[in-house]
Amino acid sequence: MDNRFKGKVAVVTGGGSGIGQAVALALAAEGAAVVVNDLKQEVAQEVVDQITGAGGRARAVAGDVGNPDDVKDTVDVAVDEFGAVHLAFNNAGIGGPLGPLADIDIPSYLQLMDVNLHSVFYGMYYQIPAMLAAGGGSIVNTSSILGLVGDANAVPYVTAKHGVAGMTKAAALAYSSLGIRVNSVHPGYIDTPLLAGLPKEAYDALVGKHPIGRLGTAQEVANLVLFLLSDEAAFVTGSQYLVDGAYTAQ
Ligand SMILES: NC(=O)c1ccc[n+]([C@@H]2O[C@H](COP(=O)([O-])OP(=O)(O)OC[C@H]3O[C@@H](n4cnc5c(N)ncnc54)[C@H](O)[C@@H]3O)[C@@H](O)[C@H]2O)c1
Repeated sequence: MDNRFKGKVAVVTGGGSGIGQAVALALAAEGAAVVVNDLKQEVAQEVVDQITGAGGRARAVAGDVGNPDDVKDTVDVAVDEFGAVHLAFNNAGIGGPLGPLADIDIPSYLQLMDVNLHSVFYGMYYQIPAMLAAGGGSIVNTSSILGLVGDANAVPYVTAKHGVAGMTKAAALAYSSLGIRVNSVHPGYIDTPLLAGLPKEAYDALVGKHPIGRLGTAQEVANLVLFLLSDEAAFVTGSQYLVDGAYTAQ
């Protein structure tokens, strides 16, 4: 096993399930101390138990990424418990309301923006000063294929994920010369609990949109995220990384 993150401290939001869980476990397996945020305390704690059970270091912090105070907590816990923040994966997100734009109700739209877009601003807002104090760092923000292309029936999600891509670029421009790299990842449809409950026809239709002939796995996204967080990606910043089975190549 590589030890690319020995001595590093990471914050992972939405780390209790799916892509965030895969990244939290992989970072810990390669030596990082990990603060695992999730809205659900019990799932964050399960991931932490798995990490500590394997001899790693981790802390669960329950909180809503749409609430800046909860996001600040994750950074405070990282600094108080582990002494710094070097790595951040701003990943928590929800699917959000579906339908053509004029059929979406405004409270659902606003909630989606809080969880999928403003959360990333809050994350970087508190992580960046901590990273500057630590001498530098690397941030990866979870966007989506729908941060690069549209979907007629997912207007709020598409809007939030395009916002994440733009925020990532602007933050990279401001902080790359100060030692903080910032990139976004853009997964195609990934087989995680986010897609649980989809009727079989809808699942098969999603598969059909990926020329590779299947959905992705959380581990396949984690592999890319870990590369971007690592020093192997030292010249990579302000970039958008697809992991999408050729969805957007069409
Ligand atoms: N699964 C996909 O097909 C897919 C594709 C592209 C992008 N994404 C994005 O990847 C990210 C992770 O998705 P996933 O598929 O792993 O989903 P998931 O549902 O498996 O995991 C998301 C986790 O985030 C947590 N969460 C939800 N709202 C939260 C909040 N307000 N505060 C803190 N935690 C919260 C959930 O409790 C859950 O544990 C999301 O941003 C999603 O938009 C997913």
